[in-house]
Amino acid sequence: MLAASLNFRDLLMVTGRYNPRQPLPLVPLSDGCGVVEAVGPGVAALQVGERVATCFAQGWVAGKPTRAGLKQTLGGPLDGTLREAMVLPELGVVPVPDHLSDVEAATLPCAALTAWTALVEHGQVAPGETVLVQGTGGVSIFALQFARMAGARVIATSSSPAKLQRALDLGAHDGIDHKAEPAWGKRALELTGGAGVDHVVEVGGGGTLQESLRAVKPGGHVALIGVLSGSSTSASLLPILMQAVRVHGVLVGHREAFLRMNRAIGCHQLRPVVDRVFPWHDARTALEVLQSGQHFGKICVSF
Ligand SMILES: NC(=O)c1ccc[n+]([C@@H]2O[C@H](COP(=O)([O-])OP(=O)(O)OC[C@H]3O[C@@H](n4cnc5c(N)ncnc54)[C@H](OP(=O)(O)O)[C@@H]3O)[C@@H](O)[C@H]2O)c1
Repeated sequence: MLAASLNFRDLLMVTGRYNPRQPLPLVPLSDGCGVVEAVGPGVAALQVGERVATCFAQGWVAGKPTRAGLKQTLGGPLDGTLREAMVLPELGVVPVPDHLSDVEAATLPCAALTAWTALVEHGQVAPGETVLVQGTGGVSIFALQFARMAGARVIATSSSPAKLQRALDLGAHDGIDHKAEPAWGKRALELTGGAGVDHVVEVGGGGTLQESLRAVKPGGHVALIGVLSGSSTSASLLPILMQAVRVHGVLVGHREAFLRMNRAIGCHQLRPVVDRVFPWHDARTALEVLQSGQHFGKICVSF
């Protein structure tokens, strides 16, 4: 292994909140980049010396997910990437774009693929559409980058004016401080001349859904990804039916989508936004920094 990256899920996992019944010990983290040191008999698609990234859901190669496939995820219940060497099936990894550093490549398996699945695979985001991304964490910053790559307009929300400025520097067209403006859905409506946004990258969950449904246009798309503000909601479900909104749950994505995403990343020379890199033996500090929410983009570890 060359590098690994952290996701909010890893924090939930190591604090016992993701699955309190997870058998221990467990090697944490789902995302990593490594170099192939050896291949077993019959392996045709991988070369020794090739750089690859891990697939989050080891049993989901293409098509619709299965219950069994969704149970084979790295960093719980399967042992994850915070280790110097690992053995994976041929279809459990993908080659990574050449222009990326090892650390950058390690950011792709969960956060990037989740944003890609939400906006491109499910959302079919198109030029001129408007995408609202919530916060400036790993998933949302990739969503911002993919939306820009597709020629869409981006409205970013954040609790921090300084982070909003960084989102604007990265290509967002408008920023909303959701702490200063709790009715940020209304503000998004105003920013779109009353039309509403085409896509919402919903990482807040229970506490943000109501504003997301206010921000989205009739017939628009809410990609339900995270529950940072809780998994229960008092939001009215009526706007979903009355405005024919499509709420689509996302669970990262499959290997074929990962390959398509990597082709796009290579073609556009997209560079993931890495906030900080820690040595692997300092992974605990890395998780604490993730928990503090100070980061912008991805927190990584290198080996
Ligand atoms: N379903 C899936 O496949 C999938 C995949 C990946 C992640 N997720 C989930 O998506 C969420 C984000 O994951 P991540 O790895 O990107 O996390 P992250 O990097 O830790 O990002 C967290 C950021 O989200 C913003 N935020 C926090 N609470 C918020 C709230 N109540 N409303 C709006 N924004 C808020 C903050 O940005 P500011 O500081 O700018 O405000 C914070 O820095 C998590 O719930 C995670 O479990 C789901």
